[in-house]
Amino acid sequence: MIKFLYIFIALFLFGCQGMPSKKPPIHLNPNMDDVERYDAQEKQFFYKNDDRTKRNPIEGTIPYGFYKDDNPEFYLGKNSEGEYLNKVSEILDVDKDFIKRGQERFNIYCSVCHGYSGVGNGLVAQNDEYNVIVTSILSETLDDKSDGYFYDIISNGKNNMKGYSGQINEEDRWAIVTYIRALRYMKDNDNE
Ligand code: HEC
Repeated sequence: MIKFLYIFIALFLFGCQGMPSKKPPIHLNPNMDDVERYDAQEKQFFYKNDDRTKRNPIEGTIPYGFYKDDNPEFYLGKNSEGEYLNKVSEILDVDKDFIKRGQERFNIYCSVCHGYSGVGNGLVAQNDEYNVIVTSILSETLDDKSDGYFYDIISNGKNNMKGYSGQINEEDRWAIVTYIRALRYMKDNDNE
């Protein structure tokens, strides 16, 4: 019996010798610590004919939250025939807070180029180095444009202006549209 005790103590002491070792530690219970997996860009052997590990989604797959076909007016600013939505108020409740939200977002995202009043005199437009000619949001060329058109411009951009669908969510884009309406309204009414 006592022999076992010595062996046990010896093992115990060796086990805790605290000496650095280059060998990996003994892993008595591996659990699922070293499960085989593919790294990105690695070759895989499961699917024949196509070795890529990064698979294309199955046709028709829609990521959670990305189904937009049920409400094209809201998501795209157009109906399923491709006609622009006339007024934001047809699909969303527009109140003072909504326009204020649009003002805040406009000042953050648009004023750098279009200026706080929308006339196109933001800092970027003032700086010759950038060489972009920024359209005035109050311009007469936009008089006949619908709300859906403005939404489309914010989402997808035009020429030198890039789209903001990556930074601004749908509801905020509509809020900005209402603020553009407010700016244009103020122009038509002598900035009162
Ligand atoms: C980096 C500068 C820049 C920013 C930021 C910017 N724009 Fe523009 N925007 C432009 C330029 C440049 C044009 C002119 C594009 C062209 O050549 O027709 C333009 C054009 C427009 C037009 C007129 C489109 C037309 O049909 O003529 C609208 C409306 C507009 N921008 C709205 C916005 C709104 C709203 C935001 C904020 C979400 C915004 N822009 C942010 C540079 C910018």
